[in-house]
Amino acid sequence: MGGMCGIIGYVGPRDAREVLVSGLRRMEYRGYDSAGVATISDGELQVRKKSGKIANLCGELEERPLPEAHIGIGHTRWATHGSPTDVNAHPHTSANGRIALIHNGIIENFATLKPMLEAQGVRFTSQTDTEVAAQLLGLEVARGVGLAEAMRTICRQLEGAFTLVAIDSEDPQLLVAARRNSPLVVGVGEGENFVASDVAAFIEHTNRAIEMGQGQVVEVTTDSITITDFDGNPAQGRAYEVTWDVSAAEKGGYDWFMRKEIFEQPQAISDTLLGRYSVNGELQLDELRIPVERLRVIDKIIIIACGSAYHAGLVAKYAIEHWTRIACEVEIASEFRYRDPIITSDTLVITISQSGETADTRGAQEHAKEQGAKVIAICNTVGATIPREADAVLYTHAGPEIGVASTKAFLTQLAACYLLGLYLAQVRGTLYADEIAAVMRDLEATPAKIQQVLDDSAPVLDLAKSLLESKSVLFLGRHVGYPTALEGALKLKEISYLHAEGFPAGELKHGPIALVEEGLPVFVIVPPQGRDRLHEKVISNIKEVQARGAYTVVLAEQGDADGTELADVLIPLPQLPTILQPLVASVPLQIFACELATLRGYDVDQPRNLAKSVTVE
Ligand code: F6R
Repeated sequence: MGGMCGIIGYVGPRDAREVLVSGLRRMEYRGYDSAGVATISDGELQVRKKSGKIANLCGELEERPLPEAHIGIGHTRWATHGSPTDVNAHPHTSANGRIALIHNGIIENFATLKPMLEAQGVRFTSQTDTEVAAQLLGLEVARGVGLAEAMRTICRQLEGAFTLVAIDSEDPQLLVAARRNSPLVVGVGEGENFVASDVAAFIEHTNRAIEMGQGQVVEVTTDSITITDFDGNPAQGRAYEVTWDVSAAEKGGYDWFMRKEIFEQPQAISDTLLGRYSVNGELQLDELRIPVERLRVIDKIIIIACGSAYHAGLVAKYAIEHWTRIACEVEIASEFRYRDPIITSDTLVITISQSGETADTRGAQEHAKEQGAKVIAICNTVGATIPREADAVLYTHAGPEIGVASTKAFLTQLAACYLLGLYLAQVRGTLYADEIAAVMRDLEATPAKIQQVLDDSAPVLDLAKSLLESKSVLFLGRHVGYPTALEGALKLKEISYLHAEGFPAGELKHGPIALVEEGLPVFVIVPPQGRDRLHEKVISNIKEVQARGAYTVVLAEQGDADGTELADVLIPLPQLPTILQPLVASVPLQIFACELATLRGYDVDQPRNLAKSVTVE
């Protein structure tokens, strides 16, 4: 099936082959199970596709070069159903040879449509739902209907979520794309135009974009862009300019995007904080557009997210409850919707998503809105679906994150959560202005402190070398150190394929301590000595695991005597209040995972089985 994918379409004077392949390379992080392109040359469709990464497709293109073309579509796939074979790769074509089509999403009624088409004599070549759409489109254009009209017709028949892009060999000037609940942006050039799932695909050519709405079809030629709904009524997209340039979507001398993004974190945090705290000492989140009267009567907050964003939400709970005294729950998005959660119009829901396209989070947000909650989205991708559908949005402004493992997105999600927590405290009067000012001073000091952690990170490489043969790693923390531990473990799992678990340090003795054996690496995040009553508790927890043979890696503030004494390896952290400590403590854990995965020879940016933007449930 379509799954979660990167999609690009091009029409214009450039060499379409180059535009498509370079666009696919920029989107490879969205999926890398297979890739393919289709072009039209001399009125004939040409298709090349290959399972595996884009490099395989490039190999195929060398063996069987495409003729020059000025229109085409390209696709990189993350398979959800149907194995990632050459045959199942996109583009798919219609049996009459006219249509090539690419798809992101899932066509839910393909099992009913397919036999219907087979009964009409259509022969299928793949097992994909996508081919159903290609065949349907083929039949429509064969009846003499234009490609755009045909697309609207089939969109009315298809169920599920999809982005579709198609070309017709008999109309080689025209690209047609449709969107329902999957991402699609149009790139507006001079005498050329693009469509893609992501602006990164065309950012080297233009920074002008049009965000498509749901249920819309766009017809694109070299000099026209026409949008309608599925019934053909004129419709509007939203035009915007992308503020980052192509260099942000390139590695810039780093071996991995992930490493580059880790090192961008001081800047990213500065960008998140920028302009949100005025000189007269007031947080200004005017973009929230939720009346303060409404925020004053909120009696419960529910934070919903997945993966790393969920970990950011867990940290946010500690901060928000502490600062606002509003009860705050945090829930994994895929669990939330299906358990009939208690929501009223006085519930504030906060969704957190880097991509803004995560299907689980979006579904949960939709459910919360239906129940009357106000929703604030914390998001990194301007114009994505989740922020568009929320009542309000707080953008993290981290810039594009391309490495599949979340790093700067996670850290900026933390910063945005802190800002939101302080803002709620300001609105509700639960913190004095000088208390907010003190936290803001600490927050504004974090970019320099993160920089310090990055500058001193060389020993983390040595640590990774010494732990290269480990089979399992534990991460422990209390309070906000606990979600930090979860995040450290997730980073290690996803890119170095190492078994790793994060635990609340105090919970260990209730079971997991049985895992501890001689030499097991245990990372422990220690709250500040002398300023946090949990310091002693965590120190005791280190002693517990050390007594059982653990190899202790202690992340503690510089000068923490107890931590230093108990550490087999000490990772010193700059001073910060406990509640903000995840902003610095997460960084060595990210670097550790990156180093270990590199040493193990894995593809850090594109770990197996994962995709950056999870647009299926
Ligand atoms: C982990 C990671 C994922 C994402 C999760 C949510 O490194 O990247 O766990 O955090 O898939 O994605 P977004 O934030 O795009 O909703």
